[in-house]
Amino acid sequence: MRSTAERSLLDCLRIELGLTGTKYGCGEGDCGACSVLVDGQVVRSCQVRARELRGRSVVTIEGLARDGLTAIQQAFLEAGSFQCGFCTPGMVVGATALLARTRRPSDDEIRAALDGHLCRCCGYGRILTAVRRAADLLEQGRGSGP
Ligand code: FES
Ligand code: FES
Repeated sequence: MRSTAERSLLDCLRIELGLTGTKYGCGEGDCGACSVLVDGQVVRSCQVRARELRGRSVVTIEGLARDGLTAIQQAFLEAGSFQCGFCTPGMVVGATALLARTRRPSDDEIRAALDGHLCRCCGYGRILTAVRRAADLLEQGRGSGP
């Protein structure tokens, strides 16, 4: 096992802090399951060492729901956008970053933002529906935003 100083952010979150909402998928930066927000940007937590992030803001799927489900999380629930749910935290993190910068993204913009987030259950259609739905909820002022 790596020393604490050399641990990835993902290992620190899951092993040291017990924040297991962030998933270990490929461990190589290719699947998006481990995505978190670092200063508002999507980062693959398996690819960065925790010690490199001193002083930076890290938000996990748990942090997003700190005050209850966000509009995006609610939309994923309403759209039934998961089967096993393994990809869902990363997808929600990716969608959160997207809607923070683009309140009404096109389908192409949603696909581009979530490119690299893999769903082994092939739930991409419903995930797209959920992000569209989240944009609606935010426009209507329903649910907290990203
Ligand atoms: S586990 Fe980090 S990108 Fe797959
Ligand atoms: S819902 Fe199973 S991996 Fe996406």
